[in-house]
Amino acid sequence: MTDFICSVCGKRLTEETGSLKCGSGHCFDISRKGTVNLLVSNKANHGDDKRMVNARKAFMEKGYYELLHKKIRETTAGYASQNCTILDCGCGECSYTADISRYLLSRNINAEIIGIDVSKNAINAGASLQAGIRLAVASVFAIPLPENSCDIVLALFSPFSGKEYLRVLKDGGIYITAFPLEDHLFELKQAVYDEPYRNKVSPLEIEGFELAEYSECRFKAELSSNEDIISLFEMTPYCYKTSKSDRDKLNNIDRMTVSAEFGIAVYKKS
Ligand SMILES: C[S@@+](CC[C@H](N)C(=O)[O-])C[C@H]1O[C@@H](n2cnc3c(N)ncnc32)[C@H](O)[C@@H]1O
Ligand SMILES: [Zn+2]
Repeated sequence: MTDFICSVCGKRLTEETGSLKCGSGHCFDISRKGTVNLLVSNKANHGDDKRMVNARKAFMEKGYYELLHKKIRETTAGYASQNCTILDCGCGECSYTADISRYLLSRNINAEIIGIDVSKNAINAGASLQAGIRLAVASVFAIPLPENSCDIVLALFSPFSGKEYLRVLKDGGIYITAFPLEDHLFELKQAVYDEPYRNKVSPLEIEGFELAEYSECRFKAELSSNEDIISLFEMTPYCYKTSKSDRDKLNNIDRMTVSAEFGIAVYKKS
């Protein structure tokens, strides 16, 4: 099992009577759900709030994104070897992480799966799935794992932290990322904004990594209730940037077909 490292001094943390402790005496409590908060910050809440986490959980449970889940679990399994260590960075409420965990088990691939997210709400929701994932509240910009400890790093719709991903990946390790393409959810934006914009997509080349595989997953999601339309809206960052009057335009819509368009890129640490 890969030990977490102390977010204050970087030494290895070991378990001692319900806490993780380092050699310098820094101590982090293990919650009843088995998660640990390794964030060193005075701010009470980081990352996605309860409303976003609950919206994403509710939406994902409806299965609208099953094609993407399938693509991500199969892609990850294609690079997973026996007893590998997989780190999901910005794992959210673990809908993809848990899906990958179950899929690898079903294929008799043993893997140590770790998820980190800066949002306590997301980590709590992930822990409730009881999917055999070790979870910590931590930032992708200060990953609480030693260097060269991971075979696969995932960052699915979460922030890019190249230096840290390279540090924790073993030589030849794999980085898998998923991101929205230009027209992703365009119909939802059309329903809300007078002048909807298309998403900006970053170039595929990234320093320190060699692109091994790139694919796209495009489908139409037929949303069949207002509740699902609202959940989809609330799980995106748009809900923070939208006025109440614009958001209220969704209140009377019960059906909507939206374009779901994703890029999935796999890189090798070079
Ligand atoms: C769009 S959500 C994606 C969640 C999950 N990967 C999924 O696809 O369902 C982005 C996640 O990144 C997390 N996040 C944002 N900034 C972060 C940071 N600096 N470190 C770790 N997680 C972060 C948010 O709390 C949120 O859970
Ligand atoms: Zn320490």
